[in-house]
Amino acid sequence: MVRKNTLFDSYLCTVEQIVLNPKASKAQKYELALKQAQVLCEGESNLIANLANITALLKETFQWFWVGFYIVDTNELVLGPFQGPVACTRIQKGKGVCGTAWDSKKAIVVPDVSKFPGHIVCNAASLSEIVIPILKNNEVFAILDVDADRLDAFDETDHKYLALLERIVSPLF
Ligand code: SME
Repeated sequence: MVRKNTLFDSYLCTVEQIVLNPKASKAQKYELALKQAQVLCEGESNLIANLANITALLKETFQWFWVGFYIVDTNELVLGPFQGPVACTRIQKGKGVCGTAWDSKKAIVVPDVSKFPGHIVCNAASLSEIVIPILKNNEVFAILDVDADRLDAFDETDHKYLALLERIVSPLF
């Protein structure tokens, strides 16, 4: 069923299908993606299924080079659901952008990955990156990592809305 979404009149939306107005702003795309993520996760309790759908939703909405989750497993991050080229499977705490975000419990925006000390190159085509730690009770359970194949692809809008997405993802853990 395709129905008109009352909150976002310029879009057609079902849980499975999203038809974006090509003129939608980045913020509008995020608003709809967040709403869709919430609906997807409300109807499913399986963590991997939900994380997988969120990465697909983000990839389809923004056409980022790579988007995925790294999940905390004892003392390292292990690759979880993602969309994009194959990636590094394990990252140590404090290493790279992801390991640093885990350690600091803070989001990191990297306009130029070549300037981030210790950046881990999973794919040389990745030029900028944003990393959001997924926290629950002040403990990091996973990392959301987004890579772009152009410099300076992420700004305050990405930071703001991915932090809101974190609030949808956090209760899944
Ligand atoms: N660049 C990341 C590694 C993960 S990949 O980009 C998918 C980092 O420095 O932690």
